[in-house]
Amino acid sequence: MGPQGVRHSSDVEVGGKKIVLAVSGGIAAYKSVHVARSMTQLGADVRVVMTRSAERFVGDQTFAGVTGNAVAKDLFGDGPDAPHVELARGADLALVAPATANSIARMAAGLADDLLAATLLTVQCPIVIAPAMHAEMWAHPATAANLATLAGRGVIQVGPNSGPLMSGDTGMGRMAEPHEIVAAALDAIGHAQDLSGRRVVVTAGGTQEPIDPVRFIGNRSSGLMGFAIAHEAARRGAKVTLVTGPNTLIQPPGIEVVDVHTADEMRDAVLNGAADADVIVKAAAVADFKPVDHADKKLKKAEGPPEITLEPTPDILAELGAHPELRKPGSVLVGFAAETVEDVDQLKALARHKLEAKGADMIVANEVGTHDSGFGVRTNRAVIATADGVVDVGLVSKEALAAALVDRVVAFLALRA
Ligand code: PMT
Repeated sequence: MGPQGVRHSSDVEVGGKKIVLAVSGGIAAYKSVHVARSMTQLGADVRVVMTRSAERFVGDQTFAGVTGNAVAKDLFGDGPDAPHVELARGADLALVAPATANSIARMAAGLADDLLAATLLTVQCPIVIAPAMHAEMWAHPATAANLATLAGRGVIQVGPNSGPLMSGDTGMGRMAEPHEIVAAALDAIGHAQDLSGRRVVVTAGGTQEPIDPVRFIGNRSSGLMGFAIAHEAARRGAKVTLVTGPNTLIQPPGIEVVDVHTADEMRDAVLNGAADADVIVKAAAVADFKPVDHADKKLKKAEGPPEITLEPTPDILAELGAHPELRKPGSVLVGFAAETVEDVDQLKALARHKLEAKGADMIVANEVGTHDSGFGVRTNRAVIATADGVVDVGLVSKEALAAALVDRVVAFLALRA
């Protein structure tokens, strides 16, 4: 079993579908054999393409044995079709597992310097990547930038998870388990359109409350969590409006983005969309207080420390929770809770408390103030609270948490239909 609350299976028909399984060189390549076998057993026509480095971790005969197809490795062949064109033509899905830091970088750069890269540049189908690398490589800004580029192009990411890595280390970068990869592949093939026709408003990032023209009260939110939710909802067919504080992320294609700075601006934008929204997800880190006044001119250091009087910002989530008339009937209201906690039980208790305090249908409580969860990192340790109870999702990528959240939202909408 993977982390609780993360999607594992679907009813997608894969018989006869052509799947390109691109295997790059990492220790996790052995797990891709299980992926190849599962997809083949489900009736897919699995075509494996391997890099030279991948061959050092697993033999091509193994893949040939489980798929019944010869493994492609050479950029040049004898036939009339170039191998990458033959592989890519008619493919229903390209699955890159493991997706090493190098493969991810080559994809982001659009390189075609071996058969795997050339094939991925040629395919016209959805692409799912299962990153696998050492924790330091995963944490490197270059990898983050490359993944953001791929996400902006609609590439779907599954994992990685935290766990044992090569060389006896433990950390983030372990490839998702085969069942998680197969579930993501089935989802991508089926394009689970379970939010089709729905309107979703997502907030992301942090607000900035001005002190003077150059200074503000703000926080460390990067927008990653909210953007992941917006991506997931859009991928599943929703018309998404993303109301976001300042960020450095790539604007997601196909999503309406409303840029805001302050809590008041965010409130206006959210209320503007609330009446038509089937789902509102408040992942933004809204400043709780703002200066009563802000100076028109830059405050001078020579004038000494300024006295800044603060007042509360509007609590957008609480307002929406307390005033259902502001929202579309039957809509689902999801809030987040950013908490510094001792353990998961405390996180669960705070999630339950915030569920009631804010009048939301669902609260995603995530741990903050650690190196791998909350602000500015690509993973989150979270629990999801609803009136039915609290589910521990564990430490997962923000994409996986977004998928788990959207799964529950879809269930809510179905019950209210
Ligand atoms: O952006 P990232 O770097 O990916 O980080 C993601 C995150 C840690 C910011 C995100 O996962 C998260 O926890 N967001 C909520 C942060 C927060 O403001 O938590 P809170 O416990 O202070 O607020 C609870 C809820 O009330 C939130 O849904 C918040 O959006 C909402 N709120 C808070 C204050 C306010 N004035 N208006 C609100 O609507």
